[in-house]
Amino acid sequence: MRLILLGAPGAGKGTQAEVICERLSIPAVSTGNILREAMKNETEMGRKAKAFIDSGALVPDDVIIRIIKERLAQDDCQNGFILDGVPRTVAQAEALEQMDIDIDKVVDIEVPDDTIVKRLSGRRVCASCGASYHTIYKPSAQPDTCDRCGGRLIVRKDDEPSTILERLRVYHEQTEPLVDFYRQRGKLVVVEGQEQVADTTRLLFEKLGV
Ligand code: AP5
Repeated sequence: MRLILLGAPGAGKGTQAEVICERLSIPAVSTGNILREAMKNETEMGRKAKAFIDSGALVPDDVIIRIIKERLAQDDCQNGFILDGVPRTVAQAEALEQMDIDIDKVVDIEVPDDTIVKRLSGRRVCASCGASYHTIYKPSAQPDTCDRCGGRLIVRKDDEPSTILERLRVYHEQTEPLVDFYRQRGKLVVVEGQEQVADTTRLLFEKLGV
């Protein structure tokens, strides 16, 4: 299964990718996670990406296309993968087609903007392993401590209120056109994001028939 997860920032792509990964035994490839790791390690790519990410803008297409080419060529992606947060522009989607990567389904997780703002404002992530929590919807067992590795939970810099609004604006302008792009190719599956994570997962598996 080669899947793309589309959706606004905070729609739940990363949360659902974790579950699908386990069910289908395929890796999730998140450009957001790859870029955050590069920023943490202060690589050249990380340094370049930081200003874009912190301000809520998209990282330039050529950087993303290079990341995705390298990642999808690795052994663990040969039997399928989930793309989380990529493509995000028509140019990135066209680049995937030019790489002859045949996508089976594109799942668009739809969530209204006001819900997105609530979700991202309550998100906490582990500074060590990157695991994601929510103060209300997915709390950690101990406040501010990661259940998985005991690391410290922090607020992502791009989850600050003004940056959330900018990310939503950029999403509607640059990423939403991909819904029609993939609908025209007969690959689109729309899933309405539910209040409970497990309810969205159930709908998603039903629609994918897995
Ligand atoms: P990225 O990390 O991809 O950020 P994003 O798309 O903004 O997605 P998020 O991680 O914010 O949200 P998500 O949909 O995964 O939601 P999550 O499951 O965490 O990218 C970050 C930045 O990197 C971009 O802004 C850009 O600058 C750059 N970048 C990355 N890829 C790029 C690309 N291809 N091109 C150019 N630039 C790129 O859920 C959110 C919260 O809600 C969590 O706290 C969760 O617990 C909670 N939650 C989830 N589901 C539910 C539910 N059903 N009910 C209640 N709460 C829920």
